[in-house]
Amino acid sequence: MAGESRNPHELHKVRLWDPGLRLFHWALAICVTAAWLLGEFGPGIMTLHFYFGYAVIGLLAFRLIWGLFGPWPARFRDFLYGAGTVSRYLRGARARKPSYWPGHNPIGALSVFAVLGALALQVYTGLYSNPDDFINYGPLYDPAGAGASTWATGVHRAMAPVILALILLHIGAIVFYKVWKRENLVTPMITGLKVVEGPVPAGRVIEKVTDRAA
Ligand code: HEM
Ligand code: HEM
Repeated sequence: MAGESRNPHELHKVRLWDPGLRLFHWALAICVTAAWLLGEFGPGIMTLHFYFGYAVIGLLAFRLIWGLFGPWPARFRDFLYGAGTVSRYLRGARARKPSYWPGHNPIGALSVFAVLGALALQVYTGLYSNPDDFINYGPLYDPAGAGASTWATGVHRAMAPVILALILLHIGAIVFYKVWKRENLVTPMITGLKVVEGPVPAGRVIEKVTDRAA
């Protein structure tokens, strides 16, 4: 990475998350929560569930483009870590201090891929679902291909608790960082600004931070 030449152990407040990624994140959180609740507890006619599902498809398409061509550290290659890095991070993860990680840390990165992958499977199977109620079939349901639809409906139903578990784990990890590691990850996802250690691309640094508790 085109890092600035400076001591890698110094702390800097940097512009980490770009506005596109932050907007994506909070829109995704709203649309997935709405789609999940409407699917599970919503009215029998699932039009609204479908609309939120389509919004999730649009957001995932944006994330794919952003992951391939977007800015650092939102690109997939910025948070694709090898097994060695993951196990090293895991060994130090219980330490009661902030990670100051510039981007998704190696464990968080795995959960990002898991959440995005699970959501992709959920919207894909939703499009082909047909619960045989003659009302709520997905737009790609093919009456001649009932086998595929039965499979899709089964997977769509089975994935509902998996997605709930992944989101609860996601929020649990954020709380763990706040309470145990004394690192607030939520404010950076709102403002884009975070105190980090290590190299970041030129132009992202706002100021040097001397107090490690900052
Ligand atoms: C349905 C609910 C949610 C979903 C589907 C979701 C999904 C995601 C995804 C996909 C990312 C990775 C961002 C990227 O694309 O690079 C992420 C990161 C993040 N999310 Fe969520 N999120 C949800 C709810 C929340 C909530 C309620 C909070 C706050 C308490 C939160 C806080 C964060 C933070 C702080 C990060 C960045 C973590 C880091 O520093 O690596 N999320 N989330
Ligand atoms: C992230 C997006 C989505 C989430 C979280 C989600 C979640 C859910 C949930 C929790 C259910 C209830 C499952 C059950 O009854 O056990 C459901 C049902 C359903 N969803 Fe989705 N869904 C999403 C996207 C979509 C999309 C894009 C479509 C199609 C346009 C779709 C079509 C359906 C259909 C047809 C059902 C009824 C199937 C049944 O009765 O089991 N979903 N969804």
